[in-house]
Amino acid sequence: MLLDPGLDLTLRPMRYPQFYEMYRAAIRNTWTVEEVDFGTDTADLQTKMSDADRHLIQRLVAFFATGDSIVANNLVLNLYEHVNAPEARMYLSRQLYEEALHVQFYLTLLDTYVPDPDERAKAFAAVENIPSIRAKAQFAMKWLDSARELGPLHTKEQRRKFLLNLVCFASCIEGLFFFGAFAYVYFLRSRGLLHGLAGGTNWVFRDESAHMAFAFEVVKVAREEEPDLFDASLAERIGQMIDEAVACETLFAEDLLSGGVAGLSVRDMRTYLEFVADQRFIQLGLPVRYHAKNPFGFMEQQDVQELANFFERRVSAYQIGVTGEVSLDSAF
Ligand SMILES: [Fe+2]
Ligand SMILES: [Fe+2]
Repeated sequence: MLLDPGLDLTLRPMRYPQFYEMYRAAIRNTWTVEEVDFGTDTADLQTKMSDADRHLIQRLVAFFATGDSIVANNLVLNLYEHVNAPEARMYLSRQLYEEALHVQFYLTLLDTYVPDPDERAKAFAAVENIPSIRAKAQFAMKWLDSARELGPLHTKEQRRKFLLNLVCFASCIEGLFFFGAFAYVYFLRSRGLLHGLAGGTNWVFRDESAHMAFAFEVVKVAREEEPDLFDASLAERIGQMIDEAVACETLFAEDLLSGGVAGLSVRDMRTYLEFVADQRFIQLGLPVRYHAKNPFGFMEQQDVQELANFFERRVSAYQIGVTGEVSLDSAF
């Protein structure tokens, strides 16, 4: 079984070809930070944005400064050990590379947006010093640390605790904290601002959607192989965890929007987070909890080009006639 302890090496016969296909799909979606053009972002920050907008961006950058490193650490320290199939570990290796790419992207963003070295250092210290970011980091660390103490997954309860870590990182951190962050980016883009950040975010968004799809597939396989793992206590603990994540991210919204950003309210942000959280319950095969509708039209439509793979994207950049829009909702 997938969660049996060990370091399985057998690729033929392959037990989980879906993980291998996810690995291959990820390879086709390779992008580089050097392709992101931050050319107009600096001028936007200096001349087109209010102090309240700049506060929002400053906090967002501070979250991004460490967010993907925390995810990468959990991949190496917990997921890689316990998801015991070589084809799944190939996917995790690829995901680790993508997380490094995200770290590089956000580092480049920070270097571009925050020229002052002391301010940059403060962004990295935000996990300690800024309460709304500290709360999110502590939430992540709690789950990261508790999984590190598990050892080999011999018992059902150990496996449930591991699944809670997996669900936390997929549903709450990649699937809620990052999705919340992307909403601010797309809100600013809807006002014609920060196209460099939005361009790179399109690719990070696609990567995170794939990371979640992998994690949910692991959950699905584990559930099929060991239905008794999914008892009422696990569902209850997942519900509490996601409630806690929504609360953390709402605290972050209150901080980001504290200057009063026209067109974006904490209330709408909270509804959006509940809508996203409901999608995670659906992906986990659990009943929805909040029954929230997406209040953000700007999150529903993305350019069709951004969903194309790397080579198609390269070609389409030189073509005219690539038009139309596609809903990203169906992809996550
Ligand atoms: Fe990431
Ligand atoms: Fe990720």
